[in-house]
Amino acid sequence: HNQSNIDRKAAEQWLRDKINQRKAQSKNLRRQSTSYKIPVVFHIIHNGEPLGTGANIPDAQVLSQLDVLNADFKRLNADAANTPVEFLDVAGSMDVEFVLAKQDEAGLPTTGIVRVDGGRQEWFSSDNETLKALSYWPAENYFNIWVCNLIDYLGYTQFPFYTGPLQGLNEQNTNRQTDGVVVTHTALGSNDGDNNFVLKPRFSKGRTLTHEVGHFFGLIHIWGDEDECLGNDFVDDTPNQDKATAGGNCSQVRTSCGGINMFQNYMDYTDDVCMNIFTVKQVERMEIILENAIRRVSLLNSPGLIDPAPVDNDL
Ligand code: ARG
Ligand code: ZN
Ligand code: CA
Repeated sequence: HNQSNIDRKAAEQWLRDKINQRKAQSKNLRRQSTSYKIPVVFHIIHNGEPLGTGANIPDAQVLSQLDVLNADFKRLNADAANTPVEFLDVAGSMDVEFVLAKQDEAGLPTTGIVRVDGGRQEWFSSDNETLKALSYWPAENYFNIWVCNLIDYLGYTQFPFYTGPLQGLNEQNTNRQTDGVVVTHTALGSNDGDNNFVLKPRFSKGRTLTHEVGHFFGLIHIWGDEDECLGNDFVDDTPNQDKATAGGNCSQVRTSCGGINMFQNYMDYTDDVCMNIFTVKQVERMEIILENAIRRVSLLNSPGLIDPAPVDNDL
């Protein structure tokens, strides 16, 4: 909001050119759409609990989270049906798949789930570097997701390191050793279906990671982090709103800043049950970041995506 309209126009034109270029490219390649694969490693930082208990969450909980993430980004979430009719025109889907890493940095097979005893019960966002130093894979090739007993947030994210004209990414942390997402273990995964993981009831549908991955790909909160309609998320098809929306009453219509609020957006602060939409232009912004930001574009060609070479079995 402190940048001029001229910057804004130039940035939007640049964005449109990029998108048109990409569309032309994918036509040449005779591809229907761009399909992105992202190699993920989950670092489960526990306190010595037996596997499957406390912060040492079971693999199944991680897998339930991966399913939610993949469904939400592709708009294959079952509750897409709850998106209000006035927003259906702008509902977007991103052709991206998050896959557990198949080989580690040494070329050895991995499940993409790493477990480390961090030797303590509680973590705070101020422990960022200590936490991440316990277990880290090169962020050029792996999307690092740390899961621990995080006390002060449900999750938090390091924004992309990006030097192009997209606005709103001014305060960047360029540290590769801390790049990625942290989620508290009681908001990681989903209790949909028959699942019975230990999750905070209001955050038991895996939307914390969906929200954080939105940030990881450069999205800003839908109210633009400034109240009274002064904020901006630099996305044209998300209506501006005067503040964060909290809570789980998703049936009531809310208005502010001269329009109906899209509090169903993953980049708001409502309970998981209310969330069901990214917009077309949020997806465009995420694709631009994914194709241009440092430690985002390199993920697309990571060795972590392919099976490791077979090793000799000499006994
Ligand atoms: N960083 C936000 C927080 O810690 C995440 C909000 C996620 N919201 C949700 N419904 N899961 O508060
Ligand atoms: Zn956020
Ligand atoms: Ca907007």
